[in-house]
Amino acid sequence: MLALAGYPLGLEFVFLDPAAEACASPLGAHLHADYVDQAALTTFVQQIDVATYEFENVPVLAADFVAARIPLRPAPKALTAGQDRLGEKQLFQQLGIPVPRYAPANSLAELQQAAEHTGLPAVLKTRRMGYDGKGQARLRGAADFDEAWRALGAQALILEAFVPFEREVSCLGVRALDGSVAFYPLVENVHRDGILRTSRPRANDPLQAEAERHLRRLMEHLDYVGVLAFEFFVVDGQLLANEIAPRVHNSGHWTIEGAETSQFENHLRAITGLPLGSTRLRGASLMLNFIGELPPLRHLAAIENLHVHQYGKTPKPLRKVGHATLTAPSTVALDAAIPPLQAALAAYL
Ligand SMILES: Nc1ncnc2c1ncn2[C@@H]1O[C@H](COP(=O)(O)OP(=O)(O)O)[C@@H](O)[C@H]1O
Ligand SMILES: [Mg+2]
Repeated sequence: MLALAGYPLGLEFVFLDPAAEACASPLGAHLHADYVDQAALTTFVQQIDVATYEFENVPVLAADFVAARIPLRPAPKALTAGQDRLGEKQLFQQLGIPVPRYAPANSLAELQQAAEHTGLPAVLKTRRMGYDGKGQARLRGAADFDEAWRALGAQALILEAFVPFEREVSCLGVRALDGSVAFYPLVENVHRDGILRTSRPRANDPLQAEAERHLRRLMEHLDYVGVLAFEFFVVDGQLLANEIAPRVHNSGHWTIEGAETSQFENHLRAITGLPLGSTRLRGASLMLNFIGELPPLRHLAAIENLHVHQYGKTPKPLRKVGHATLTAPSTVALDAAIPPLQAALAAYL
């Protein structure tokens, strides 16, 4: 999606992706190699003027190698900040951004202590490499500890209080090379089984200013360049920080049709030193993820104002294989269009 946004700007792309079936490969040269393959990284940096990443678990070693040779935006320290859930929470606190109660849990004994601090229910998470709800276990009572520890305990863990949130929201911000910033309207996200299902931008959300304050503080602290996504829980009408992603984000896919400038174009503008584009909404929109399999294209294409994106990925349970964005001229029109859409796609959502 970055490349698709970049070609109209006259940009060209080289992709480094260890997956043989990289979904970007039809769109440019694909270096099929491990992230830490020095020969591949050398070829990579020789062919490009600026590098970026859209996956937060790129090894820091690879990021440092690239950043020592050509501009890597956002810089490796942003990557590091998002890779460890414990360090991430400590950084939020250091910046005065409220977080749920949490504690490290590196042994079964420490897990029990951690639970005294967080209370129950709580969510046990691997500190590293988790995504789409993977590497997490819910603890409801003391009886769950052993099993959760067996499932996850081989790695460093963090225990977080379960947050009885009213809503989940994310804020996408973008910071340019000259330090100017822009923010998209707050997005309401619905997750099921830890996986994002729908995202809906909300104009004039009462928490917009607070979210922007947190995001601005973080982006300035990291001397950030590019798009950054910040996920929050809303409890008692206040924001509690969940996590950040130092990249374009699934909860911003609606910006392709729903905003004046998409998150992808704005990320490219930022990292290539161009001025940022407007983040204004173009009407109302709702994004739906397709998880596991895609509905038949003929079926999707028959739905008015639905914009379909297939990723060319092999269908697999719990894998995001595509998304679609429903657009409408107003919130009222979108509200009216959602129930028929859900009915038409009931078998796939
Ligand atoms: N402490 C928590 N309290 C309540 N729900 C949680 C908590 N942590 C995670 N979740 C739920 O699981 C989803 C995925 O967890 P998250 O920490 O964002 O990990 P990732 O997106 O990297 O898999 C969240 O969006 C939320 O719906
Ligand atoms: Mg998340």
